[in-house]
Amino acid sequence: MIDKRSGEVSNLEVPDSDATTGIGHTRWSTHGPPTDINAHPHTDCTGEIAVVHNGIIENYDVLKSKLSSHTFESDTDTEVIPHLLEAELKSDTSLREAVQAVVAQLEGSYAICVSVKSRDEIVVARDGSPLVVGYGDGENFVGSDVTAFLEHTQTVTYLEDGDVARVDDGDIEVWNGNQKVERDVERVEWEAEAAEKGGYEHFMRKEIHEQPTALRQTLSGRIDISAATADLDLEFEEAFLESIEEIQFVACGTSYYAALYAAELLERFGDVRTSVTIASEYRFGGGRDPYCTLTVAVTQSGETADTLRAIRRAEAAGARTMAVTNTLGSTVTREVDETLFIRAGPEIGVAATKTFASQVTTLALFSVFLGRARGGISAAKARDVLEDLQRVPGAIQQALDREREVIDAAEKYEDSRSFFFVGRSLGVPVALEGALKLKEISYAHAEGFAAGELKHGPLALVTPETPVLGVLTEGANPAETMNNVTEAQTRGADALGCVSSDTRFRTLDVSFSVPDVGVAEPLVANVYLQLFAYHVANLQDRPIDKPRNLAKSVTVEWLVISWNSRVTKPETHMRTQHKHAF
Ligand code: AGP
Repeated sequence: MIDKRSGEVSNLEVPDSDATTGIGHTRWSTHGPPTDINAHPHTDCTGEIAVVHNGIIENYDVLKSKLSSHTFESDTDTEVIPHLLEAELKSDTSLREAVQAVVAQLEGSYAICVSVKSRDEIVVARDGSPLVVGYGDGENFVGSDVTAFLEHTQTVTYLEDGDVARVDDGDIEVWNGNQKVERDVERVEWEAEAAEKGGYEHFMRKEIHEQPTALRQTLSGRIDISAATADLDLEFEEAFLESIEEIQFVACGTSYYAALYAAELLERFGDVRTSVTIASEYRFGGGRDPYCTLTVAVTQSGETADTLRAIRRAEAAGARTMAVTNTLGSTVTREVDETLFIRAGPEIGVAATKTFASQVTTLALFSVFLGRARGGISAAKARDVLEDLQRVPGAIQQALDREREVIDAAEKYEDSRSFFFVGRSLGVPVALEGALKLKEISYAHAEGFAAGELKHGPLALVTPETPVLGVLTEGANPAETMNNVTEAQTRGADALGCVSSDTRFRTLDVSFSVPDVGVAEPLVANVYLQLFAYHVANLQDRPIDKPRNLAKSVTVEWLVISWNSRVTKPETHMRTQHKHAF
């Protein structure tokens, strides 16, 4: 039985069934518009072989031209896969062998899942797109992300590129090429409840409110006040840490803004030159000695294709590499020399919130660690910074407790024509992130930039209908930023500001108070901006957790699809998993 629909997953009506296997997938429209026909799964001519696919088949037109006797129904690249399988799957061939023969013909990136009518097995394969299998009790699971089936099992295997796995209700067998291989079985420490809404209307608001807890996890056991350093369990040799000439960050979106924040801290405390490059724009810098370069990939998912590509370039050029990620077993962790886990717990909302805070905090610890290793920061200053970081969870809780003030502001400004976010120094990445959050989930036009740039162009757009939000805390040059905010007010704009608790800017139309936590104050200001974006979007009744055209993990360089599958024992009611649907 196949049911597929365009639009929301809730449009599907999966009836009761005694089937023992099920596959499902939410598709991102790359080849062909979002219609019922183009939805996954796709089948062969007989309708017996069903396939879902995350990724892109770059040579699908060449493959399709070789299948001239086959009738295709959709506009998708994926549909060639079931038709190729139809040609390969003979009565004496196993499904696993047929899948291996087909994937050998594919160019591009894929995680695929294949189900054949009347067989109690599914076969999955990956190359370039994430794929994880979960071990249940008499039932097994497959997903592009562990959160898809966390409520059923925490015991998983992350498949590797080139792997093909056969999954039924018993053992899971994995092949790579002609070899049967053993992959590590790992236990994910995330609790199932962490991937549930827990009484909140949206994951995003829940995850905003989880930030104090997430940051306590991020910091746990990593602060050594007596030694005035951070204990990050990194194995870089002292000589290497001392010899680093430049730290290059590569990242996308919110992770890129976290890297901007971190780079400023590393320059201040780590005594090191930094650069931050949008991963899709990254080219290894010519002329530098790569052995003195540490390239750091900041990526919540650990699967972002642009970021993976950038880190591979750096590694190929000889740089040492490190990942800062939330995701155990993710692809990036297998490709770098060292990994720093941010320990934020699962983040389901497409808009990154708590992971930004945990990324910045982890890298703030790294800046102290590096500064102490290189003599760039005194013990006394390091202790101050570490103690400020210890106070951040409490400071964020205080901001969260004032959510009503943010709701009032959201109600006042929700219909504004445009929003401008400004800051200086550590306030710049927060301004950029504040604008991204608002545009991403509310669809309002929002721009973030360095406050000094207002007068170089954007001021032309400022009117009484365009509120300006300033990051006016310690660490963000508040007085100078306020001058720029005032320039906007003079042109009629209302001004909202996140302000250190010991400061007053009396001309602000709305102030949000940020407790004293030193260089982490812009990070706390960001919580107000997250709440502001959330409440504007909520007032507009936007699909906050799944904004249009966006996805949680961008696992190829120009599209994303995620899918989940489940194999159950015969007496278990078949239920296709859709929780990781975007
Ligand atoms: C932000 O809300 C988005 N989810 C997006 O910008 C995201 O940060 C970006 O795609 C990078 O993802 P990553 O951290 O998983 O690499």
